Amino acid sequence: MTEYKLALVGFGGVNRALAQLIAERNQQWKTELGFTLKIVGVTDLFLGSVMDRHGLDAASLAKLPTTKGAMAQLPGGTLDALNEAVIKDCGADIIAEATFTNPVDGEPATSFCRWALERGKHVVTTNKGPIALHGAELKALAQRNNVAFEYEGSVMSGTPVIRLAKESLAGSSITGFEGILNGTSNFVLTCMEGGLGFAEAVSQAQALGYAEADPTADVEGHDVRLKVVILANELLDAKLTVNDVTCNGIASLTLDDIEKARHDGARWKLIGAATRQADGSISASVEPRLLSNDHPLASISGATNAVSFTSELLGAVTVSGPGAGRTETAFALLSDIIHIHQSATLKQEHNL
Ligand code: HSE
Repeated sequence: MTEYKLALVGFGGVNRALAQLIAERNQQWKTELGFTLKIVGVTDLFLGSVMDRHGLDAASLAKLPTTKGAMAQLPGGTLDALNEAVIKDCGADIIAEATFTNPVDGEPATSFCRWALERGKHVVTTNKGPIALHGAELKALAQRNNVAFEYEGSVMSGTPVIRLAKESLAGSSITGFEGILNGTSNFVLTCMEGGLGFAEAVSQAQALGYAEADPTADVEGHDVRLKVVILANELLDAKLTVNDVTCNGIASLTLDDIEKARHDGARWKLIGAATRQADGSISASVEPRLLSNDHPLASISGATNAVSFTSELLGAVTVSGPGAGRTETAFALLSDIIHIHQSATLKQEHNL
């Protein structure tokens, strides 16, 4: 039986939900997935850190108060965030990185990923910053160190998008995609269709936990722009940077615009899209688009996300599901760990 030792970097909602899943489901995973997970280190800038090579109690971690320095209450815990020590020295095989996204330089998350990969540890992350801004460098680093760097949760949380497109749609020749890739802005637009004002709708999205720490990143399209960069680089082999993607958000849409669209049999949606042009170049944008009601993305309401891939062999393939949420995003980390396990098992079977 395989047991992976796991270090959790960032202990906000996502890694806390992963600890809860481990507490509840480890025995089930043993039979269902062929492995169990043991948490050997946790670090968080606000809560502090704790390490134990023999394993920490996942249920107690999941219940830890959210007060500053709370890790100090645990045996061996400290209110200092010993990030480097936890990543490099707590004996983990896999680092689960789920700190906040910094859209400017991807730090400190990028350094966390770098330290782990250089030390020969697999990394699973839900963080858009390191992938959108430093994806090529981190992937090359992982390859050089013969470890995995997985980031399914960076786009549409646990709804399988990246692996679905790269593995199940491989060979279908994807030529582009368009997606509703931000739950907050879609929730806001849906609330506005019900007559709620923009500011009130944003407040509701914050209260429900969909919005980024700074909700302007959601409604101005910056969050979607990072996701467009990730998907275009992964699926279209583009080499886009954030500045290659034109970006307009939904803040200028009024209740009148939305009512007029309804009258005309259409809905406003914030769409992130990329397309391969005839000359091979990739054009990419984030913008509000008026979709007629028969468009595959027009019926997506509330905080739900969806992406529609265009491929030469299948035409449009659309997948919808949650794009945010603690447990939903923790599931993305689990799906990355499952992928690591399956690859390792395959290598063992072939003596590679
Ligand atoms: N704030 C994001 C959203 C969370 O609303 O979709 C996931 O990236």
